[in-house]
Amino acid sequence: MEIVNWKIDDDLKKEMANHYQAKRSFEAKNIHPADIINEYTFSFGVKNFNSNSPLRLFKLVERIIGIEIYGVGVEVGSGPGTHTALLAKMNKVKKVYGVEASEGIVRNLAPVVVSYVAGKDDKKVSCVVGDFSNLELPDNSVDFVFDFFSLHHTSDLQSVIKEIYRVIKPGGFLFCFDKARDNALSNADLEKLLDTEYSPEFKKKMGVPEDIKHTRRMNGENEYRRKEWFKYIESAGFKKAEHFNLARTASRNKLLLIIKNIYSLIPPRIQAVISNVLPIKPTNNISANNRIYSGLLNNYHKEISLIIGYK
Ligand SMILES: C[S@@+](CC[C@H](N)C(=O)[O-])C[C@H]1O[C@@H](n2cnc3c(N)ncnc32)[C@H](O)[C@@H]1O
Repeated sequence: MEIVNWKIDDDLKKEMANHYQAKRSFEAKNIHPADIINEYTFSFGVKNFNSNSPLRLFKLVERIIGIEIYGVGVEVGSGPGTHTALLAKMNKVKKVYGVEASEGIVRNLAPVVVSYVAGKDDKKVSCVVGDFSNLELPDNSVDFVFDFFSLHHTSDLQSVIKEIYRVIKPGGFLFCFDKARDNALSNADLEKLLDTEYSPEFKKKMGVPEDIKHTRRMNGENEYRRKEWFKYIESAGFKKAEHFNLARTASRNKLLLIIKNIYSLIPPRIQAVISNVLPIKPTNNISANNRIYSGLLNNYHKEISLIIGYK
């Protein structure tokens, strides 16, 4: 893999350098790559990282969108490059740019993680120290753009999606695993979510002293509802936007567990059509519309919104 630099403005550079994850990256480069992945990619959420489960999740995405992941791609906000490397392992993918604003994460962690995950395919990877709101790529030059819980870190999702649209070729697509809150949530609800403090246990893992207030807002996060994602994707020029709620089959209730497991055997598109008409309520503030159950999600600590833009 190569490391390249794109332009980042001074304020973002400073914000990134002060972030706990960049500070931690100097020590973290000495830990096992699987532990780096668990900490940086899954926020301590997925035990025993096994590269097969995200790869199978990409296959599920292909079944849902009916398009193969192919050609040249970009991961926006790629962290240590876990998913960038997994995308590079896919046969039809020729090259992937992982764009990450934190120089510490790219220089200290990406080389270890990318070679651990991609093996010999690591030559397909370019790790970029760069800003996803300013992609130094020509118009209409890439086949897909991918996001894993990074785009909700921008306070200007509309401009970033416009920039992403610019670099995607006609016929290409944007796919995001991210947070898309339910449309029914008010601005006050979203503010409350952003003011949620991290637990003492999580702060400890982050290296933030327990007595210091640390909220999701302070962590650089923002909240967007499904309707905002749709508005920004459509106003950027994408032909169509879609949202699916990828849900786990896990449950403490045995009967519900059996029902969810049986339901998960139905093809994803059909599940989405059925759950769209079922009277199910939003859970964890994520929309229940277009819900797709999959055991693949059981290892993740959250349900995932899959948001797609087709150019
Ligand atoms: C929750 S992490 C997700 C990491 C990554 N997608 C993965 O799968 O490991 C969000 C990442 O987005 C990065 N980020 C935030 N703002 C960015 C920007 N403007 N340009 C590029 N990366 C950014 C953060 O530094 C952080 O590494």
